[in-house]
Amino acid sequence: MSSQATTSIAAMASSFLASVKILTNTQPCAAAGLLALGSFTVASTLVAWTSVFLRIFVRPGINLKKFGAKKGAWAVVTGASDGIGREFSLQLAKAGFNVLLAARNGEKLAAVAQEIDGKSGSAVQTKTFAIDFAHADDATYEQFQSTLKDLDIGILVNNVGKSHEMPTDFIDTPAEEMNDILAINVNATLRVTSFVAPGMASRHRGLILNIGSFAGSAPSPMLATYSASKAFLVTFSEALAAELKPKGVVVELANTYFVVSSMSKIRRASAMVPTPAAYVRSVLRKIAPGTQTPFWSHALLDYVMQIAPASIVQAYTHALHVDIRKRALRKKEREAKKN
Ligand SMILES: NC(=O)c1ccc[n+]([C@@H]2O[C@H](COP(=O)([O-])OP(=O)(O)OC[C@H]3O[C@@H](n4cnc5c(N)ncnc54)[C@H](OP(=O)(O)O)[C@@H]3O)[C@@H](O)[C@H]2O)c1
Ligand SMILES: *[C@@H]1O[C@H](CO)[C@@H](O)[C@H](O)[C@H]1NC(C)=O
Repeated sequence: MSSQATTSIAAMASSFLASVKILTNTQPCAAAGLLALGSFTVASTLVAWTSVFLRIFVRPGINLKKFGAKKGAWAVVTGASDGIGREFSLQLAKAGFNVLLAARNGEKLAAVAQEIDGKSGSAVQTKTFAIDFAHADDATYEQFQSTLKDLDIGILVNNVGKSHEMPTDFIDTPAEEMNDILAINVNATLRVTSFVAPGMASRHRGLILNIGSFAGSAPSPMLATYSASKAFLVTFSEALAAELKPKGVVVELANTYFVVSSMSKIRRASAMVPTPAAYVRSVLRKIAPGTQTPFWSHALLDYVMQIAPASIVQAYTHALHVDIRKRALRKKEREAKKN
């Protein structure tokens, strides 16, 4: 710091102290009032920080046994062949659930199922169902429904999701991309949930876990359609959670910042960007109804975003997406030159 700045800070401090002195001498009541207000502000900030700390680092989640682990219950995972969905499948199998894996690519699904079979011995069963949620017709959905019908489903993970190829202004977004995002993020979640929720309600046991995104908790310029589709999941999950709570079913929206995956196109983990394995461990350790942000650094960022002015959060997000788009376009150019 320059000596000039130090001098002017010292001058400001001494004139502040002088005014405090005048105030306490001339207006003792006002001074006491201000002191009380200040103490209250400090105390309520400490209470808020403590409760955020406890929520993020201490509070345990609902035990998976509640949903039928090791008692023959099934977990259904959509988008199960890669990334976060693959990890849910592996970790839920390890926790003692039979797993039904759904995604487009049957071979990739079979490989994950085989990995589970190899690790679990014969402790759990697996099934796979190949379905393209962007284009599935009624007949395919009916087939999926009849595959699910006879299973005792303890957990549904609505994990499948699609984002834009790269951040793009709405007016430049291809109609097909918008359609696929809605078909996968919104329609598939509604339909698959409608297949599974009635059975859970009648058994008075179940967990419906929807995978949300920070793009859904704050409007994200240049990902408008994806952002709105994830906001839909927030509202849907919270409303459904209230309906199903008296029926013994937990509905959670797992709010997620970046995770290493082919969707995020981030390959290296960091404090802010966990691997799918670390991310899914945090989700499964902290199951609770309603909107949750299970990964610790995501939860801290979420807290900062909640107390920061919305306009600043939006300007930050917009600038981030302008930058991501620039880099994505440069990468596309490099790849085009290579080919
Ligand atoms: N990664 C992040 O940074 C991040 C951040 C916030 C939220 N999320 C959310 O997390 C969820 C999982 O994302 P991820 O990063 O794990 O993605 P990912 O690694 O790209 O995996 C996507 C999975 O979904 C399947 N899938 C894709 N399109 C499908 C379709 N049309 N029909 C059926 N299955 C399809 C893929 O398998 P096939 O190709 O075989 O179909 C794959 O198994 C998404 O809902 C995403 O929005 C991710
Ligand atoms: C979503 O589902 C509704 C109702 O079944 C259907 O009319 C609509 O075309 C679907 N939208 C997409 C994008 O698949």
